[in-house]
Amino acid sequence: MKPAQMERTPFADLDSQPSEMTAMLLAALEAMGRHPEIRRVRRTAMQALRPEPGARLLDAGSGAGDVARWLATKVGPAGEVIALDYSAATISAAVQRHDGSNVRYMTGDVSAMTLPPDSVDGVWCERVLQHVDDADVAIAELIRVTRPRGRICLIDTDWGSLAFDGVPSRLATTVVANMHGRLTPRQADMGRTLRRRLIAARLADVTATPVTCVFGDPASAAVVLPMVNPVVPEQAWTTPPGVRDEWFSYVDAAGDRGDFLAILTIWVVTGTVA
Ligand SMILES: C[S@@+](CC[C@H](N)C(=O)[O-])C[C@H]1O[C@@H](n2cnc3c(N)ncnc32)[C@H](O)[C@@H]1O
Repeated sequence: MKPAQMERTPFADLDSQPSEMTAMLLAALEAMGRHPEIRRVRRTAMQALRPEPGARLLDAGSGAGDVARWLATKVGPAGEVIALDYSAATISAAVQRHDGSNVRYMTGDVSAMTLPPDSVDGVWCERVLQHVDDADVAIAELIRVTRPRGRICLIDTDWGSLAFDGVPSRLATTVVANMHGRLTPRQADMGRTLRRRLIAARLADVTATPVTCVFGDPASAAVVLPMVNPVVPEQAWTTPPGVRDEWFSYVDAAGDRGDFLAILTIWVVTGTVA
């Protein structure tokens, strides 16, 4: 199947969603950003990127801008962070959350940016490439705008690593198989492919760190995993009739017993532009 024919998830085109849906997805992104496991992923990425005071950074696919504003605290007043997102609604929400830090917000497609070549010292691109049509095109574009010896940090989920315990495995397999392509993106294994992609793009010093997120109760898992979130509309489910209710009854029972477990690996991959 050609990339353009792939089913597009809401994050691939937030502006064509009803405004309540966009608001809900942005709130979900912010809740994820506060989750201790996502914070652990981001701390790993920050240590890998090592932004310096005075640097000019790009947060590509910046969502509500919370990471861009965090990066701004690292580069300080002499530096600058460009928060770029495809979605005008998202950039407008990010601007509303602006805290006066050195962040410039702009709309743009990570695969075809208007930024000049060699115009940034470093790039952060978190959970975006799983949504684009061709990740290698986007990576080439991120390299184009980064100066020689600049650093690129890609963070992406490996939905193929998602596993559960405490619930019947046949049910978990059905739920996960049916959610892919609907609530999770088409390029579900993006995280594990990033190292290969940066090596193919001839970046130097490529490092790849898998961060396995552990969710020990359904409420914690629901913040990051749509298939455990009872608020996700029933219409988004593609499972056979009855499966959703049966699944949640087992999830709730495991939560009550205290033995619910979900794990998901998110990769942090960096490289230096030649
Ligand atoms: C899952 S969200 C992640 C947002 C943010 N990086 C974070 O980690 O909270 C994906 C973001 O990528 C943006 N996005 C999707 N495709 C894009 C593209 N081609 N160019 C720029 N941004 C894109 C979406 O609008 C959305 O804000």
